Amino acid sequence: MINLNGVKVNNRILLAAGAGGYGEGWPHQRPFIKLGLIDLSAFGAVITRTLTPESRQGNYIDPFEFENATFVSHLCRILSEERKRVLRKVPGGWINNMGWWNVGINYWIEKIYPKLKDVAIIPNIGGFVVDDYVNLIQKLNPLKIIGIEINISCPNVEHSLANNFKELARLFSLCRESSAHPLIVKIGIDSDYLKIAEIAEGCGINAISAINSIPILGGGYSGQAIKPIALKVVADLRKITRLPIIGGGGIASLRDCQEFFEVGADAVTLGSGFLLKPWEPTRIAKKY
Ligand SMILES: Cc1cc2nc3c(=O)[nH]c(=O)nc-3n(C[C@H](O)[C@H](O)[C@H](O)COP(=O)(O)O)c2cc1C
Repeated sequence: MINLNGVKVNNRILLAAGAGGYGEGWPHQRPFIKLGLIDLSAFGAVITRTLTPESRQGNYIDPFEFENATFVSHLCRILSEERKRVLRKVPGGWINNMGWWNVGINYWIEKIYPKLKDVAIIPNIGGFVVDDYVNLIQKLNPLKIIGIEINISCPNVEHSLANNFKELARLFSLCRESSAHPLIVKIGIDSDYLKIAEIAEGCGINAISAINSIPILGGGYSGQAIKPIALKVVADLRKITRLPIIGGGGIASLRDCQEFFEVGADAVTLGSGFLLKPWEPTRIAKKY
């Protein structure tokens, strides 16, 4: 057991928010799970897609989200133009523009969480005002989870909390007071991340997660091209905070993980580097 200032994991390799859906894998990953090529229990934790107080359509209308999707419905989704608008391959990586399309916290707690018995789960939460986060945190209190990732850095939704330090301090303190779980703050590069880490540490946040996808025209950029940027952010953070750092951005191999550990990460997240090779994260987690 590795104890990252209260975030207790069996393995330093985690699945990044969004990479494993709501914690049970995306529909297209399920055949790999059935075949044993993806083993979600092999990760130190699986961080969920961002959950909000209410369900949101975001930038994607998914008719199958709440239904028992069939093979044909999955195929329709994979081939649809609509999907390409929210996730597309570009040189060096991917652009995603989901806009927090999700089922909402109540549905996740009632219908999805009970199915996740073998997986170490870190729900990722998002809101527009402080009360949204406190509300989400309180709902998660009774659950058996590894911690909660507070997302203040999504490039695809309008939210200004990350640039308002007074409000951020209020957010972190209220979340800390309201939560029974270790808290992780997920930061991006479009805000003063060093200042945010400092505020988070002062407010009793347990760990920092860096980095979120990078805002560009059309959405958030992720994948191999952002690795040098993510490494720099982790190295910068390491100089100013004693909090554990969960580093990620562009990791595609065990060697990449090692580079993050060398600049000061305590754990790493694997994300879009594996959209085309869904079995690779499991292989890496098992090797580590
Ligand atoms: C398809 C997709 C969905 C994502 N969904 C979320 C999300 O719901 N919440 C979040 O905080 N980050 C989300 N991310 C960002 C990743 O967790 C990660 O921070 C980012 O992609 C950088 O890492 P990578 O280059 O390894 O993918 C998503 C990324 C992708 C590609």
